[in-house]
Amino acid sequence: MADQMAVIVLAAGKGSRMHSDRPKVLHAIGGLPLLGHALHAAVALTPARIVVVAGHGAPAVENALQALAPDAVTVRQDSQQGTAHAVAQAAPVLAGFGGDAVVLYGDTPFISPATLAAMADARAAGADVVVLGFEAADPGRYGRLIVAGDRLVRIVEFKDATDAERAVTLCNSGVVMADAGLLFDLVARVGNDNAAGEYYLTDIVGLANDSGRRCAVVTCAETETLGINTRAELAAAEAVFQARRRAEVMAAGATLTAPDTVFLAVDTVLGRDVVVEPNVVFGPGVTVADGAQIRAFSHLEGAAVGAGAVVGPYARLRPGTVLGAGARIGNFVETKNADLAAGVKVNHLSYVGDAAIGADSNVGAGTITCNYDGVLKHRTTVGAGAFIGSSTMLVAPVTVGDGAMTGSGSVITSDVPAGALAVARGRQVNKPGLALRLRDRLKAIKAARDT
Ligand code: UD1
Ligand code: MG
Repeated sequence: MADQMAVIVLAAGKGSRMHSDRPKVLHAIGGLPLLGHALHAAVALTPARIVVVAGHGAPAVENALQALAPDAVTVRQDSQQGTAHAVAQAAPVLAGFGGDAVVLYGDTPFISPATLAAMADARAAGADVVVLGFEAADPGRYGRLIVAGDRLVRIVEFKDATDAERAVTLCNSGVVMADAGLLFDLVARVGNDNAAGEYYLTDIVGLANDSGRRCAVVTCAETETLGINTRAELAAAEAVFQARRRAEVMAAGATLTAPDTVFLAVDTVLGRDVVVEPNVVFGPGVTVADGAQIRAFSHLEGAAVGAGAVVGPYARLRPGTVLGAGARIGNFVETKNADLAAGVKVNHLSYVGDAAIGADSNVGAGTITCNYDGVLKHRTTVGAGAFIGSSTMLVAPVTVGDGAMTGSGSVITSDVPAGALAVARGRQVNKPGLALRLRDRLKAIKAARDT
């Protein structure tokens, strides 16, 4: 493999068939934008440089890249005049780059690191230009790879192909690898005298052959080259991705009772002997430690679940949730930015946000951390071994000490010292016989009305 690799990701296209205000490459699969998937395979090559060619929605693409690949640079292609024209936009920022360059498409999320490695091997074996091809079940409008022996002679776009060429089923994925200097030399020589009036990157193969260079094809499964053009294709790609992730987490030792109903993110980590019941959704950033149980109809994102913890059914863990070992989060409980230590129980109908709860504390049904005053967020801290009575309102900022208790229905606005019992609610008054007398009076009113 070449000493250094530059990755050029083409992401300027409009994606008109998405009918979207969002650039196509920022639509997500498994919670990660398509562009992030494209970069994922590239990153396995440990590239020295990543250049993203942006056009439609460039500011949004640049913004997203800060999170996806902070080292990447973007160049702008202000009018989309074809794939060769797009690659040419990367030439100035890669001027003098000594290694290879690989061209990827931002809307093609499933190219595997192994496939790119095979292309690098073909380069090492002496091919000047390596093109990734695939045998298409339905070649449709893909460019056709015209080969002679082990040489790739040229690529012909569907629009420009003869009937004989259209009968070829070996198709162009669009991924190309070559020495960066050679690539830019070839791209600079591409013209636009074709059916679409575009500068075709595919023309570099014919040009390379004309100047005595050797071009070769590496093939991969058609599923890897799947490109996204429509919402239906996005959904189909999501299904492919989910099937793969489900298989991966099961192979790694998690039980999915009904795999088809569990949705995983790119980065979901499930430990050994984790059990996930039906209809669970994992957003980005979730790790579940060994032996934990995620019960039916729960939704988790940005959360770390400790070993042996039980979550749900019907729980919602939002970003910043950290559950200690053996913690229990029951039905209709929502947590956010909450650190719940080992053995904490929040079993019913609660909201715990911007909070820390110490080990083995029990939070009664209907408890709410009132963390927001309409302008600012405030923290609630509960010590270890505390007992928060049902329907306690913890009005933050507030601290409840170790081993303390709150009476049910309390509205806690001041700190509760360790070991204390806080009761903050109206005192109960019983009026003997009043219920019976009141009911008789109400019945009399109703009878008078009905006559
Ligand atoms: C291209 C290939 C075709 C191949 C197919 C695989 C060419 C001429 N044709 O055709 O052989 O079978 O991909 O899917 O290369 N883009 C830009 N700027 C542009 C044009 C395109 O950034 O000016 C980007 C697009 O956003 C897209 C990618 O390049 O991500 C491919 O462009 P697209 O228009 O989809 O090319 P196809 O016609 O599908
Ligand atoms: Mg296309």
